[in-house]
Amino acid sequence: MDIQRLLDDIAATVEPLLGEGHVADYIPGLGAVAPGQFGISVAMADGPVYGAGDWQRPFSIQSISKVFSLALVLSREGDAIWRRVFREPSGTPFNSLVQLEAENGIPRNPFINAGALVVTDRLQTLTRDAAGAVTALLRTESGNPAVGVDERVAASEAANGHRNASMAHMLASYGNLENPVDEVLEHYFRQCALEMSCADLALASRFLARNGVASDGTAFLSPSQSKRVNAVMLTCGTYDAAGEFAYRVGLPGKSGVGGGIIAVVPGKCSICVWSPALGPNGNSVAGVAALDEFTTRTGWSVF
Ligand code: DON
Repeated sequence: MDIQRLLDDIAATVEPLLGEGHVADYIPGLGAVAPGQFGISVAMADGPVYGAGDWQRPFSIQSISKVFSLALVLSREGDAIWRRVFREPSGTPFNSLVQLEAENGIPRNPFINAGALVVTDRLQTLTRDAAGAVTALLRTESGNPAVGVDERVAASEAANGHRNASMAHMLASYGNLENPVDEVLEHYFRQCALEMSCADLALASRFLARNGVASDGTAFLSPSQSKRVNAVMLTCGTYDAAGEFAYRVGLPGKSGVGGGIIAVVPGKCSICVWSPALGPNGNSVAGVAALDEFTTRTGWSVF
């Protein structure tokens, strides 16, 4: 299959959709991004990296970081985290507070904000520098030592993160945080504010297409852990739209409000698409369309 030609075609096919939806502006630092951009990159499990459009332009990875903090915690201490966070779809928006109180401070899954705060808290306990650990992993796996935090976005999120702060305090009130609320929030905001390109993220996600095998050939996750991260991505990675994403794309995926989405074809490749304008559930409109096109045309899907 000529992947390069396919990606060029997909970029042309989604062009009419570019700008459809809204750029996230509840984090003011994200609101200024030009909505009409689009990039796509595919990293083959054992081979080259392809790309089209703005595939080498860095963007704010936001919630995509949650996959890597979860993988780090699982790699360090296995299943213990599942005593503090469930792994069911929430059926509520990613920043909803309602369910957290109704379910006694145990978040529905590690990809909604409350669940990610618990994972970051555990990573902070294990490493004393959760955001630094996520950054180091992403630098190594992408092969790009320049991956780093956009300080302007991190500061903007901290200044406007009232919902996340209330979630973190709610978690603390139920005894589901081990570190001070401010420390957990700082590391969570910093991991979300990392800047990477589609190429960087496709490469960084490749261990999930390789049964957990990292870029240096060592086992970062076990095959079973890798399968399970992919399973949680499939059921919870695109929040309230996970059903529609499974229907249209048919792959484990994780979105971020910066407009990026990573997706994994186990055994074959990892993919990252980016286009900043989002649909109502916080997923990139052109990004989902591009992934739909990719799996429809290749037939590569977990179904
Ligand atoms: O905490 C937040 O609201 C953002 N830093 C991340 C949210 C996000 O990316 C949700 N994704 N679609």
